[in-house]
Amino acid sequence: MTQQESEKTVPTMPVIGQTAPAFKAQSTQGPINFPDDFSGKWVVLFSHPSDFTPVCTSEFISFAAWDEKYREADCQLIGLSVDGISSHIAWLRTIKEKIQFNGHKNMDVKLPLIDDLSMEVAKKYGMIMPGESTTKAVRAVFFIDPKATIRAIIYYPLSLGRNFEELYRVLLALKTADEFGIATPADWHPGDAVIVPAVNTSKAANERMENKMEGAVCYDWFFCLKNLEKDTVYKKILKK
Ligand code: BEZ
Repeated sequence: MTQQESEKTVPTMPVIGQTAPAFKAQSTQGPINFPDDFSGKWVVLFSHPSDFTPVCTSEFISFAAWDEKYREADCQLIGLSVDGISSHIAWLRTIKEKIQFNGHKNMDVKLPLIDDLSMEVAKKYGMIMPGESTTKAVRAVFFIDPKATIRAIIYYPLSLGRNFEELYRVLLALKTADEFGIATPADWHPGDAVIVPAVNTSKAANERMENKMEGAVCYDWFFCLKNLEKDTVYKKILKK
């Protein structure tokens, strides 16, 4: 496909707030029937361009290193690329046997890695972006809640490895917002102040400024912060 042709092809992608497309696939951990197999759980579904490539290899070591933290947050990581199962198995074995990155070695990748040679799942999720590649998925990350609703999406191009602190922060922030009915400000991490949701009537705005909310600081009617202790957050959003 030429550059001009690829620019005319507009990939469709599901958006935040929609139900995540259902799919059945083979993975390195056996068959997957999404979302039925993950009922009641958060899922982070991510794609990578290709097995046996360096940025992807560094990312898989990082996904494996973070996997336990996602499990503690009751969240299943699921990877996908437009490669077959044999390639996935050979690549993950090589990673375990030979590759070291960021102080990690002998990394056993236990999260399922989907065989999407047909590109069926990648196309459903808008992971093929022809301007980047017509044969490889970009680095997409879909955060999907226990009701199978897409709650956040992050896309990176082929050349850019993901930020793993940020991916995990997004999951914790989404779970915290749900559990406590708050929003999270810029650069929030557990233990930082959170945002009390804005009101939407003049009466409520007046009341908010007149009646002090216990534990909250209001700089104006639309900008109120309150403390939310790290332990309180972790108790609610991490498995006991
Ligand atoms: C990589 O993972 O290194 C990579 C994969 C596809 C295109 C460019 C880089």
